Amino acid sequence: MKNDIEKIMFSRAEIAAKIKEMVRNIKEDFKREKTLVMVALLKGSVIFLADLIRQIDMSVEFDFIGTSSYGRSAISKAYVEIYKDLMFEVKGKSVILVDDILDTGKTAKVVMKHLLDKGAKQVKLCVLLDKPSRREVDIKADYAGFEIDDVFVVGYGLDFKDRYRNLPYIAVLKKKYYN
Ligand code: IMP
Ligand code: MG
Repeated sequence: MKNDIEKIMFSRAEIAAKIKEMVRNIKEDFKREKTLVMVALLKGSVIFLADLIRQIDMSVEFDFIGTSSYGRSAISKAYVEIYKDLMFEVKGKSVILVDDILDTGKTAKVVMKHLLDKGAKQVKLCVLLDKPSRREVDIKADYAGFEIDDVFVVGYGLDFKDRYRNLPYIAVLKKKYYN
């Protein structure tokens, strides 16, 4: 798997330091809440979520939403469908939506609306990576780790055809593997 990597973009240590910084901001904003309610998107955000919540010394509840997309390609979506919904109630709660990367923004837009429709008091968006140059809908992350250019990255939860999620860093694949 390592041989497929062109270069490491963010190391394990860089990611850990960034998460610490993000947690400081989240804790400051949510200090009046009894419990932090996090909703994470399958499957890309699971590793980020696991590291994020273990840095938060507050009461945390989390659940997952799964979306699938239909359209021209895996990362350029025309239509987002929720295939797995929440098991807990978000009515009246402040929720943090967690995802690996904010790309076109379509997924986050649909899911944020879904949570508000379920009665969430407010929904903040927390992403590890942000590709602002790819945005197709009007949306901004409230907490964004690293801003990156329009390059396809893998690792730390992010996949290419469902592989590479378990790399402990974020990397760019060699061109010959993107096919
Ligand atoms: P959006 O709806 O276009 O914002 O889609 C975001 C989703 O696309 C993320 O949750 C990822 O699953 C996927 N995605 C976007 N860019 C990348 C990338 O560079 N590597 C891996 N997955 C990506
Ligand atoms: Mg994905």
